[in-house]
Amino acid sequence: MNIVLVGFMGSGKTTLARMLSKKHGFRFVDTDKLIEKKERMTISEIFSLKGENYFREVERQVIDDELCFCDNCAIATGGGMPCFFDNMEKLKTLGWVVFLKAPFDVILDRVKGSSKRPLFKDVEKAKELYFKRIGCYSKAHFTVEVSGSKEKVLEKIEKFIFRGYGESYN
Ligand code: S3P
Repeated sequence: MNIVLVGFMGSGKTTLARMLSKKHGFRFVDTDKLIEKKERMTISEIFSLKGENYFREVERQVIDDELCFCDNCAIATGGGMPCFFDNMEKLKTLGWVVFLKAPFDVILDRVKGSSKRPLFKDVEKAKELYFKRIGCYSKAHFTVEVSGSKEKVLEKIEKFIFRGYGESYN
């Protein structure tokens, strides 16, 4: 069984996937890192040299060519991955998909000043994108409200994946 974490930039997908892998022996997978390795460029370079559409195509390929072989993985997805093509449906066939739902203010606090995220250069545009994507993320199997410590958030994820219940089912 895989755990797939989805949500906006800065919602804690990578941190929580790492925590899950450390504590429960899942293999940690980060889709942005797979893309950077495959393309031999950073995400920012891909966006500026090849454009977003190209990046989205590579994201789609990564699901078809690499994620489909995951078994017992904690997968941190890129923030836009589930919102393009039929990616969300495919992710849902890999295992439990968990939406980390963090308030925009929390996200802004974590992400501001980071040059690594091409879609966060303009805060107003990022905010618009955040609200536009909520509907897509909410198609996940389960939504975890990101509040309190990361250990608390981890606990909420564990409750769902190991005991089959939690805060809200989608
Ligand atoms: C993106 C999120 C980023 C990365 C790329 C595009 C998005 O991943 O995939 O910059 O469209 O939201 P993180 O969510 O890990 O920052």
